[in-house]
Amino acid sequence: MQTTRFQIGDFEVLAVPVLHDNVVYLVCRDGKAVLIDAGEAKPVFQTLEKENLQLLNILITHTHYDHVGGCRAIVDRLGVQSTSPGVEAGECPMLGTVCRSISTPGHMAVHKIYYFPELNVLFTGDTLINGACGRLLGGTARQLFSSLREICGLPDDTRILGGHDYLVDNMEFALSVEPGNANMQSRLDLYRTDPVAAIFALLAEEKKTNPFLRVDTVEEFTELRKQKDSF
Ligand SMILES: [Fe+2]
Repeated sequence: MQTTRFQIGDFEVLAVPVLHDNVVYLVCRDGKAVLIDAGEAKPVFQTLEKENLQLLNILITHTHYDHVGGCRAIVDRLGVQSTSPGVEAGECPMLGTVCRSISTPGHMAVHKIYYFPELNVLFTGDTLINGACGRLLGGTARQLFSSLREICGLPDDTRILGGHDYLVDNMEFALSVEPGNANMQSRLDLYRTDPVAAIFALLAEEKKTNPFLRVDTVEEFTELRKQKDSF
C-alpha cells in the first residue's frame, strides 16, 4: 500500500503505511495535522516534511507496540502532545472541527476510536479492521460485541479507517462463514483492482461484508471470534 489521500472539503486525510501492514493517519487542514496512532516514526516524519505539515497532536487508539512504537520519537522531536486511550471519552475541538473519542473496549480493555462527524470518518484502530475485528487481547467478547454495535449506530456513509490492511485474510474468512455471499466476493475481487476502495470501505459496506457485524447475539459473536482465531 502507498500513502493514500482522501480529500474531504477543506480537509485531507492521509493514510500512511507503517511497519509491515499497519496504517497511521494524518488529518490535515491549512498546513496543520493531527496523527492517529504512531506505530513507526520515520514514515510520519517523511510525510510531514514532504507535505509541509505542522503536527499538532497524536491520538492513540490503544497501546499495542505496532500503534505506539513511534510515539516517543515523534513527541521528542516535535514537542507535540499525545493523547492516551486512557483519557476519558468525549468531544474535543481540533483543526476547526470536532473530534469525538469513543470508548470501544474488547481488543484491549482500554481502546478508543476517533470520530470526526463533519468529515464522516472514523478511525477504528484494532476494534474494526476492514472486514473483521481485532482479537481479544485483554478485553472480553461481550465488550467487543457491544463496541461494534455502537459503531453500527453511526451513519452508514461513515468511512472506516482501521489500523491494518488485513483485507484478503478477512474476506477469505468472511467467505468461509458465508460461502457465496456476493458482496464479500466483490470486496475481495475489488482488492485486486482498487485496494484502497476495498480496504477503506464505508460502514454500509462493512455491514454487508463483515461477519462480526452480521451476528445478532454475543454468543454467536464469541463463537465467530473463536473460529477466526484458528482460521
Ligand atoms: Fe492491537
